[in-house]
This record gives sequence, C-alpha cells and structure tokens, in this order.
Amino acid sequence: MSKDTIGVGIIGLGARGFYSIGSNLATTCRETGFRIVALCDRNSERMIEARDVLAGMCGGQAVAIAPRLYEGGTDLIDDTAVDLIVITSITDTHRQYAVPALRSGKKVYCDKPLAQNAEDAVAIVEAEAEAENPLIMGFTRRYEAPWRRAFGLLAEGTIGDLTMILIRDIIPYHRYLQAWWRRREWSGGALSDKGSHLFDVFNWFTQSRAVRAHGFGGRSVVEPDPLAPPRCTQSARACVYRRRGRDGAAPHASVHFGESWLHETEEKHQDDVCVYAPGSDVYHNGSIHFSYENGVIASYFYSIFGPGAEDQETMELVGTKGRMILTRETGTINIVSDYGNTLRVVDCNDEGSTGSHFGANVTLIHELRRFCDGAPPLFSARSGLEATRMAMAALRSMDAGGLAVDMDDIAGAARVPDRA
Ligand SMILES: NC(=O)c1ccc[n+]([C@@H]2O[C@H](COP(=O)([O-])OP(=O)(O)OC[C@H]3O[C@@H](n4cnc5c(N)ncnc54)[C@H](O)[C@@H]3O)[C@@H](O)[C@H]2O)c1
Repeated sequence: MSKDTIGVGIIGLGARGFYSIGSNLATTCRETGFRIVALCDRNSERMIEARDVLAGMCGGQAVAIAPRLYEGGTDLIDDTAVDLIVITSITDTHRQYAVPALRSGKKVYCDKPLAQNAEDAVAIVEAEAEAENPLIMGFTRRYEAPWRRAFGLLAEGTIGDLTMILIRDIIPYHRYLQAWWRRREWSGGALSDKGSHLFDVFNWFTQSRAVRAHGFGGRSVVEPDPLAPPRCTQSARACVYRRRGRDGAAPHASVHFGESWLHETEEKHQDDVCVYAPGSDVYHNGSIHFSYENGVIASYFYSIFGPGAEDQETMELVGTKGRMILTRETGTINIVSDYGNTLRVVDCNDEGSTGSHFGANVTLIHELRRFCDGAPPLFSARSGLEATRMAMAALRSMDAGGLAVDMDDIAGAARVPDRA
C-alpha cells in the first residue's frame, strides 16, 4: 500500500484511541496523509464527542474529515474506506477485533497488552500467522527515545555483556481499581496492563526468552470496604484517590474527557469506581523475577499506588563492565562504564523525549505510516504474546505464594517472539 492518503478506522475511543493516538493522527494529518474515516465505540455518545474534537483538530490542519460512526467493530473493519485498523478498545475485546482485522488483509495496529490472557493472545498470533500479515503493536517504550538510546548503548558494548535488569515502577495508577482494569478477566490486571510493557523491554534488551518466573504480590494498600460508595461521583468522603466529583480529581488522577463517562451504568465501563469497592482481584504491588535462556536475570518491582515522582520509573542494566540507569520521567541515562572508570550522563530530551508518552506517540504515528507503506513492524503480535505469557506466569506464581513457574507451562510456548 503506498497511497497519498491512508484511511484510518479507530476501534475504542477512550484515553488511548481518542486522546493519544486519535489526536496525534489528527494533528499530523497534513504531513502524514492519515485521514480518520471511521470511528467505533460501544458508547455512541463518546463517538460523537470524539468525532467532533478530532474533526476540529483536522480542521486546524485545513483537512476536512467526516468519519462514519460504528457501534460494532466488525462493520468498521469491513468499511472499504478503511486501510488501517487501529484497535484501542479495552483489552478483553482485542481478540474479537484483531482476528477479523488480520483476516481482512488490511493493515492492523493493536495496542498492548495483546490480550488479557495467554489463550486470546495465542488466537491473535495464529490469525497473524495465517494472514502472513504482521500487525504492529503499541509497546510504547519501543518508540521512546531514551529506551531506544539505552538499547543502542547496550548493543555497542558500553557496559559489556548484560547480566541483570531491574525495572522499578512506583506509579500513581490507582485508576487500576477504578475502571475496567479492576478485574483480571477484563484487563489481565496491573501486571498485564503495565507490566507487559516492561516484560517486553526485558525481551527486547536480553534478546532472549524467559524460562522461569517467580514473584510475590500484595493487595494491602487499600482494603475493600463493603460500605464504600460505588462511585467517586456518588461519594461525599474526602479521598486522596478521587477521580471526579467533590473537590475535583486527586493529584495524578488521569481524568477522561466528556460527559459520556458520567452516563455509564455498568461497573465495567465506569471510570470512577471507588478504590475501596469490593470485587477487584488485581495485585497492588509486587516483585517478580525472570531467568532467561541466556542467563540474564530480570526483575520487576512495582506499586500502583505511587506516589508519583520524577524517578517513578527507572531501568537499571548491569553488565560485565559497568551499568546504566535510565530514568523515564527525566529522559536521562546515567552510565558507569569501563569497570567504573568512566561516568557520564546522556540527556535524551533533545531526541524527542518530551510530549505525551515522552514523544512515543508521534514516533508511533510515523512508524504507522512506514508500516502502511510496506515496511515491516518494529515488533508484532508474537512479542505481545510473549509479554502476556510472562504476565500470566507471574500471576500464577504470585497466586501460589511465590512458587517458581516454568514458562513452558503457560499457553503459547511454541511461538517464538520477534527479535529486535
Ligand atoms: N500503549 C500504551 O501506552 C497504552 C496506554 C493506555 C492504554 N493502552 C491500551 O489501550 C486500550 C484502551 O485503554 P484506554 O486507556 O484507552 O481505556 P479507556 O477506558 O480510556 O477507553 C476504552 C474504550 O473502549 C471502549 N470499548 C469497550 N468495549 C468495547 C467494544 N466491545 N467495542 C468498542 N469499544 C469498546 C470503551 O467504551 C472506551 O471508550 C487498552 O488495551 C490499554 O491497555 C495502551
């Protein structure tokens, strides 16, 4: 496909489909040739909110769009004006859209995590293999300048051979108890939604495959309260985790745009469920370790209750000749190399690390254009499957109180992940 303009259909118009990818497609439309021709969401009011805002953004680029609105993703996939299908609906819907999208022969983007369980992820990988048409995925760090730079420095031998990786994520993501993330059957839990990004980084940096996992998890930051109000909007309590309603949103609370969110009636689709409401089965914090085929040991240390800070996400790489620490929020990499004789700081801020998702969304839009023009994706569904399998192995170990889990016992073991 090499066309001046590419028709884009977006399925799922929440934070990711509307504000991150949709808005970046709109603001770059003149330069990239992307035209949003179709939108889909199960919430029809939200589709109208998104259509109006995105049409206004394209209008600001002197490009007129009038996307068709679909309540079902299959109709959007069949729309002949759609060349690129963007799947940004909630995670437990990825399989139902990714499989027919791949079979349609069109270009497909599917956000991370590939699925909420390994079985759905395998089904998408099988469809990809049959279609012989890889999809492109949304592991954001693969598009962020500091992480790409760190990978390059490692590959150049700056710290020798990699022996260990530690990623710390102390993030204010209490929304994981306030919306569809609160149940594993919908999201795969925090380890799937957030951890999968970092498990993919482990696979990318090690260029190898995890063989065993073990971890411990806690659910002790907020205790379920049977008397909790169902939603923030219905609560008179003062609360440091509030997402909307009395006194506005708490610091670091991510807030959705539009009235459509207020009108949701099902718990699964509300975005302001009380963090104390019983019924969530996701771990609030944990520490997980993987051993790799090539001997590298990788660890993920996380809490979804933060607090947020400049060093809330860091990656430390330990090599045979030195080490590197990447700090995501500041876009810097501190390097100790040459057996400790050389110290330096690499500032990646001039390499496009600012803006939403540290510049990744704009880089992603350009990668999408290259992909539509026939370039292979940086990584595809097989990488997504491997990250999901690791999340499932970690959860199995945490549920069993830290028992080591063999990765071969998780569905999809026969599928080899992409190499960077
Ligand atoms: N790559 C990244 O950095 C990144 C960041 C955020 C989210 N995500 C991923 O994007 C996806 C969406 O996350 P979000 O934060 O936008 O969630 P969100 O709750 O803000 O929005 C999800 C949207 O999907 C819609 N939806 C639900 N079921 C649907 C269905 N059957 N058909 C069509 N639409 C449906 C909802 O109505 C809602 O508008 C998730 O898979 C998430 O993990 C990726």
